[in-house]
Amino acid sequence: MSEPLLQVSGLRTWFHTDDGIVRAVDGVSFAVERNRTLGVVGESGCGKSVTALSVLRLVKSPPGKLESGSMVLATDRGPIDLAELPQRGRRIRQIRGRDVSMIFQEPMRALTPVYTIGFQIEEALREHTAMNADEATAAAIEMLRAVGMPDAEQRMDTYPHQLSGGMRQRAMIAMALVCRPKLLIADEPTTALDVTIEAQILALLKRLQAQFHMAILFITHDLGVIAKMADTVMVMYLGQVMERAPVRDLFHDPRHPYTQALFRSIPSMAEEPKQRLAVIQGSVPHPLTHSAGCPFAPRCDHAGDRCAQKPPEFAVGADHTVACWLHESAP
Ligand SMILES: Nc1ncnc2c1ncn2[C@@H]1O[C@H](COP(=O)(O)OP(=O)(O)OP(=O)(O)O)[C@@H](O)[C@H]1O
Ligand SMILES: [Mg+2]
Repeated sequence: MSEPLLQVSGLRTWFHTDDGIVRAVDGVSFAVERNRTLGVVGESGCGKSVTALSVLRLVKSPPGKLESGSMVLATDRGPIDLAELPQRGRRIRQIRGRDVSMIFQEPMRALTPVYTIGFQIEEALREHTAMNADEATAAAIEMLRAVGMPDAEQRMDTYPHQLSGGMRQRAMIAMALVCRPKLLIADEPTTALDVTIEAQILALLKRLQAQFHMAILFITHDLGVIAKMADTVMVMYLGQVMERAPVRDLFHDPRHPYTQALFRSIPSMAEEPKQRLAVIQGSVPHPLTHSAGCPFAPRCDHAGDRCAQKPPEFAVGADHTVACWLHESAP
């Protein structure tokens, strides 16, 4: 197996608030393989977005702080530990949009209302390449065509508000991918869209992934989307990884009581594909709560004395691990 494109190890991103410390991401490790999709799933507040923002060093500091960990990205300039780069500086700016891009649920977080989409797509090319104006325009039009924008050439001169939600999403994807990054971070990119448009955008991302040979870190709380998009899945809860597995194994044989509860909370995935994850019994603890044990123990049917101690990740199958004492002696 070749080196992963991105290897994150022991990532901790905490928020130092007036009321105390929020351990938003608390010791998370994962690898993103080239050309593959790692799905990240978990309830609201479990640290999915903060994980994504940490990779690009976009967590606002203060109150956020990257406490520890490494995030080694393979680039054409050799491996770079993103955790070691100054948060504001040329080196991380060179990574953003060139090696790693991000798309969001709300395209207006990426697009500016006052510039045409053509100008905004060309911006990345001006920053990261030596293309002249005509070359950049041609590349931007080509990219708009690749994301399925009708009348791509004419659309260059439109402003974001002149586009429908789905088309705005396509424009944001064009902007993110115009420099052909090897990694795309997608944070709930289709959550705000209706089911038909969502299916189109997911299909588009799959097509672009194959065309551009890129890896995707796909964040969602929709297990139906995970099933469609991910090769491997990481299940997070309260800033920690509960379970990780190839997507088929996770769906056929979820092992962590938290993962099992997630699946129980969506009994009719096929009938209601846009359903949000229903609340599992008990509520997510207050973000300031911190326990030295398993974070899910207070809501877990199986919790016992040993759960006061944080379990390591036990292997239960090929590339399938579970952070739960129930699996301590698993084969
Ligand atoms: N600027 C901040 N200051 C304090 N706490 C924060 C800040 N940003 C995020 N958090 C906290 O960090 C935790 C993780 O938040 P995050 O946004 O990563 O969750 P998420 O899994 O993406 O949730 P969602 O599914 O709702 O998008 C939450 O408890 C959140 O309240
Ligand atoms: Mg989020």
